[in-house]
Amino acid sequence: MPAPPIRVLVLFYSYSGQSSVLVRRLIAGLIDEGVVVRQERLRPRRSLRFPLGSFTRTLWLMMITAFRTRFAIEPLAVTDDDPCDLVVLAGPTWSWNPSGPVLSLLDQRPGLFRRRPVLAMISCRGYWRRHWRYLQKRLAGIPALACGPLVFSHPQPEPWRTIGVFLKVAGAAPERSSSLFRRFYPSFGHTRQQCDETYNLGRQLAIRLKSGKIPEGLQGFQHLP
Ligand SMILES: Cc1cc2nc3c(=O)[nH]c(=O)nc-3n(C[C@H](O)[C@H](O)[C@H](O)COP(=O)(O)O)c2cc1C
Repeated sequence: MPAPPIRVLVLFYSYSGQSSVLVRRLIAGLIDEGVVVRQERLRPRRSLRFPLGSFTRTLWLMMITAFRTRFAIEPLAVTDDDPCDLVVLAGPTWSWNPSGPVLSLLDQRPGLFRRRPVLAMISCRGYWRRHWRYLQKRLAGIPALACGPLVFSHPQPEPWRTIGVFLKVAGAAPERSSSLFRRFYPSFGHTRQQCDETYNLGRQLAIRLKSGKIPEGLQGFQHLP
């Protein structure tokens, strides 16, 4: 009898589209290796427009998220008992923490993670360590087994990437501003090369999962910037 397929549940939030591009490529890699993937995007109940359209609103969002403010999410279709071998939990860093919708998910649906390996995927400007430590702590408390992380940071140098994220969220298009800024900040967010890396990681992950040793086979499966 053929072995049952490996099943991966991908839960993700993306505000400005960066995590969703990475997730899409990771899933493509998994599927190309024969893994069955189910994905659900977290949708905040009160929709958060991108871009926010003002500097004040951007500062406010960055301030409140430093206190791990929860953003309530719409109910998910997946149930705690739906079979899966691995959960991928993906999303951006918000003020050194997981984003508000991911925090709500951890509060509201711990059963999705309980006694399962959970691979964290983080999209950030560059500061992700506190986010990862907090996730590890929350998952251990469920209890779930935190694996990874797969971290992707914006490749532009500082201070340009920090200014770039701020301007982009506020509604400016920094990559189209003055030629001096453009020299250091040619584009917002992740590069094509990073997306290709994510695809390859999806394939490598699938191969590890198919080896049948879950979760031991996931040890050391990381991508750090
Ligand atoms: C409110 C807010 C706070 C942020 N705080 C951080 C941070 O503390 N560290 C960091 O590296 N990036 C931070 N960022 C940048 C995002 O993590 C980064 O742009 C990420 O690629 C966005 O992913 P997304 O498009 O999937 O939302 C922040 C972005 C926002 C909107």
